[in-house]
Amino acid sequence: MSDVQYDQFLSDIYDDAPYFGQARAREPELFNQFYFEHLGDKTRRVLEFGSGTGMLTVPLARAGFLVDSVDISPSMQKVLAGKLRAEDASVAKRVRQITADALTYVGEEPYDSILMPEGLVIALPDRTLQLALFESCHRNLRKGGRIYADFVQPRYKVVYEQTLQEHTRFRTRDGDNYLLSVTFRNDRHSQVEEWDAVFAKQGTAGVAERIAVTVSFRFLFHSEIQFMLERCGFKVVDIDVNHARGLGFAVIAEKV
Ligand SMILES: C[S@@+](CC[C@H](N)C(=O)[O-])C[C@H]1O[C@@H](n2cnc3c(N)ncnc32)[C@H](O)[C@@H]1O
Repeated sequence: MSDVQYDQFLSDIYDDAPYFGQARAREPELFNQFYFEHLGDKTRRVLEFGSGTGMLTVPLARAGFLVDSVDISPSMQKVLAGKLRAEDASVAKRVRQITADALTYVGEEPYDSILMPEGLVIALPDRTLQLALFESCHRNLRKGGRIYADFVQPRYKVVYEQTLQEHTRFRTRDGDNYLLSVTFRNDRHSQVEEWDAVFAKQGTAGVAERIAVTVSFRFLFHSEIQFMLERCGFKVVDIDVNHARGLGFAVIAEKV
């Protein structure tokens, strides 16, 4: 069982916050194009692991795909439920929201396709958990079924410097202004990177509220993902190292 790192505050602010969902929310097509290029059959339900706020889920449903969206965080699921309520009923009904741990999830029947948009694999900050996720994918796919996943590139500066602090400002769609300070700490041996993020909400007379959040990631280079997938019974079909203008890489792997 892995931890729920995305609480209500982080889920509500996710799409607006730099370092979190902001880049993807601003240019969803840039990140989602990969999935639309490779997914074909709309009649067979796809499984999405780590659906988060639904930045891929909602476009998939709009395009006619039937999606089982699994996320461990009830508050992320709440944000997605709100987005689905704003959609036409015919779109919303294509999505089945499932609040569950992707590591232990077992679908009613094997899927043809499992999608893992940016974040889920690296949000499991331990190599054993990452392998357990690929094993769960293997369990949930039929033979010949495929994983489609995209990953953000590790930030080489953090890997090199080991610790780094950055500050940035942003405004939410509700009009709140935040100063966000993030301290990144990287452990060279485990490859686990911790982010201490402090969100200082600006009021008329200075800081109105300060919210501190710590999240951990285990960033991966694509060579390690290839080893992990092969160890878990997959053949890597394609790796695009220029995914989203080189911001990330995308992988397709088939269950052998
Ligand atoms: C970095 S966010 C990425 C969200 C989304 N895929 C996106 O593109 O923005 C990682 C997501 O994975 C979810 N998650 C983390 N561990 C999980 C687990 N064991 N099972 C299912 N979901 C998990 C988190 O709750 C969060 O929504």
